[in-house]
Amino acid sequence: MSLRYHNKVAVVTGGSKGIGRGIVKVFVENGAKVVFCARGGAAGEALEAELNKAGPGSCTFVSCDISKEEDIKRLISVTVERHGHIDCLVNNAGWHPPHKPTDDTTAEEFRDLLNLNLVSYFLASKFALPHLRQRQGNIINVSSLVGTIGQRDAAPYVATKGAIISMTKAMAVDESRFNVRVNCISPGNVMTPLWEELAGQTPDAAAAIKAGENAQLMGRMGTEAECGLAALYLAADATFCTGIDLLLSGGAELNYGFKSQIPS
Ligand SMILES: NC(=O)c1ccc[n+]([C@@H]2O[C@H](COP(=O)([O-])OP(=O)(O)OC[C@H]3O[C@@H](n4cnc5c(N)ncnc54)[C@H](O)[C@@H]3O)[C@@H](O)[C@H]2O)c1
Repeated sequence: MSLRYHNKVAVVTGGSKGIGRGIVKVFVENGAKVVFCARGGAAGEALEAELNKAGPGSCTFVSCDISKEEDIKRLISVTVERHGHIDCLVNNAGWHPPHKPTDDTTAEEFRDLLNLNLVSYFLASKFALPHLRQRQGNIINVSSLVGTIGQRDAAPYVATKGAIISMTKAMAVDESRFNVRVNCISPGNVMTPLWEELAGQTPDAAAAIKAGENAQLMGRMGTEAECGLAALYLAADATFCTGIDLLLSGGAELNYGFKSQIPS
């Protein structure tokens, strides 16, 4: 099988588990040199060792908190020091807080989530862009389907994800003169540690997971690997796409959201 991202240098935020892990893995399998970050140490280091053993690409784990501007700056500079350039930035690290109504949500909670989910994407893009412009590279922002269709008791999260889609389009406009493409991916439900954690906060985790599966027309959740392949498509193959929002939703938004009662 030919390698679709051979020797390309990619930065992935939040790559130690979940969707980010899927992206790091698919990129390494396709020959890329990936630098990925997460806040903790152990999971990132274990993944780094596993993927470097498997190859054919390689990866480097950097411990970094993307809610901190200096950490983001360091992630980009470490990548350039190590590999000399950057072809692709994947902004993925983010968090979905437990569901709660607007009445119970403080301004501080909203501001903190904006900083973590949105400002971090802006800053990583800002620091990576001088390098991406030299390589006619690309940015991939992981948003969410709920940024377009909404979600109950999650106004701050939905706001951050909608803003990511808008920011993607704005940056695609600005960067087109440098031939830098900026796109986003909007997953529906994907089984990850974050999803498991949210299900665990409900009275019946198994029922929550079942409902999460049934939210897709395809009757299942997406996988980390499918997210990795979607990101690889945008990075390696989608050379005429910029400013797009690639829905990775198993058809969750179709038929006005009704998943059954389709007359045959
Ligand atoms: N899982 C889903 O169903 C789903 C659906 C739509 C969108 N998303 C989005 O996909 C992205 C990844 O979600 P996931 O489900 O894989 O989450 P996850 O919690 O399973 O993994 C998140 C990753 O980000 C890292 N991370 C979290 N906070 C960080 C910080 N401050 N600094 C550095 N790294 C940090 C974690 O260490 C981990 O590697 C998020 O932006 C999320 O909003 C997820």
